Amino acid sequence: MPSLYSLEEMQRQREALAIDWQRPTWHFLPPSCWMNDPNGLLQWGDQYHLFYQHYPFKAVHRDMHWGHAVSEDLIHWRDLPVPLAPVPGSYDESGVFTGCAVDNDGVPTVIYTATSGPGSQVQVQALATGSGEDLVRWERHPANPVLTEAPAISGQQRDFRDPFVWREEDGWYMVLGCRIEGNGGMIPLYRSPDLVDWEYLGPMITGDVDRHGRMWECPNFFPLGDKWVLYFSSIHDDRENTVYWMAGDFDGRRFHPETDGVLDYAYYYAPLCIEDSQGRRLMWGWLREGRSISEQVRADWSGVQAIPRVLSLDSQQRLVMEPVAEMAGIRGAHTQLGAQDVDGEHALDCGSLALELRASFAPQGQVGVKLAQAPDGSYGAAIHWDAATQELTVTRQDESLFNDSEPCTAPHELAAGETLDLLVLLDGSVLEVIANGRTSITSRIYPPDANCTGLALTGAGARLNALDVWQMQPTWP
Ligand code: FRU
Repeated sequence: MPSLYSLEEMQRQREALAIDWQRPTWHFLPPSCWMNDPNGLLQWGDQYHLFYQHYPFKAVHRDMHWGHAVSEDLIHWRDLPVPLAPVPGSYDESGVFTGCAVDNDGVPTVIYTATSGPGSQVQVQALATGSGEDLVRWERHPANPVLTEAPAISGQQRDFRDPFVWREEDGWYMVLGCRIEGNGGMIPLYRSPDLVDWEYLGPMITGDVDRHGRMWECPNFFPLGDKWVLYFSSIHDDRENTVYWMAGDFDGRRFHPETDGVLDYAYYYAPLCIEDSQGRRLMWGWLREGRSISEQVRADWSGVQAIPRVLSLDSQQRLVMEPVAEMAGIRGAHTQLGAQDVDGEHALDCGSLALELRASFAPQGQVGVKLAQAPDGSYGAAIHWDAATQELTVTRQDESLFNDSEPCTAPHELAAGETLDLLVLLDGSVLEVIANGRTSITSRIYPPDANCTGLALTGAGARLNALDVWQMQPTWP
């Protein structure tokens, strides 16, 4: 196995890759090579720690390690050494998979899935504890692995992963990603006095394969307002993998959802959340790549984390997401437009590949925002909402690069009197679109050169109430 990179080498890699305009400048991404799920989020002292699924030697998903970075403001991050790497011949020889972190009475502790065997087919749960300045030293627990058998009703051991742990008065609780063989997803519930001995309490919820997919990965379960929320990342056989949320009541053993929805309609996957000291429920999510594996290897980087989102439930018990307010700290030049009709195309001279755009429109006509436009019109992405269909669509023009070339369309119905409120975050190849806080289409675009910065409003019978655009300042070298 190659030796792990030093912090100096990570910095050098970041600088070398900075010439790539498709590479985000103000979202978190690894120094180079591969990243997928956020892992082990932890607020420790006045720092937020982000761990992530990482292969540090090539931009491919292989022998998973954890990566580690730290931040004071959730926006500027500093790389730290790889905290956990697979140990040959051990229970995590094939990969240190996804997990979470808790404060175990002053001991920072991560609970993760350790995998062994070909194809990571043996999945068990393990603990490690952190120490040192910036929590850079991680030691595996002597009792590892602490949970080895998937529940009998699951009928399989291969898909038993991604522990999510929280504390109640009567002990630690844990949910895991799992499925029932020949059926759909299943979330087993466990309890422990010490994170080491786990008692199985039964399936907290089981899924319907046609509706919510074959396997549920990365479940998160937490109180929000006066309800409980579950979200999970679902593997489908017949369509793209999707993150779903559900909100309802928890009786201590079983979860009874009352409302549910799609958390994101495009590239956002495997989110993980924590509650921070301000009482905010903060969610990170991995933005997959839309380009081919060979393109990812050629670029030498893969995977981005979305800007952390604060979660809440609205009056109709729907999940609402708002990127953290700390993002305002890197806003640069600001452009504003007041109320006006939009018919045809209205070019704005504040375009760039690093911007935040907030726009409010009357709920009428056809509303559009074009961005990342090439000067000669040969490239661009567009966001579109149509009052007649009540649908939100993101289209991209560079389909040759994509695994999925279809425009992405999501139902987005407005209630009587509600305005269309669009939030758009553009950062190189990242396009986060959230409408009215509740409809999220997080897409990837790959502008062919750095001049694809054109920005325009488009409309047919549309009326803008207000628009703000900020240039976002880079957080990386
Ligand atoms: C989700 C996932 C997890 C697993 C990890 C492996 O993207 O498949 O279920 O723990 O990635 O990298």
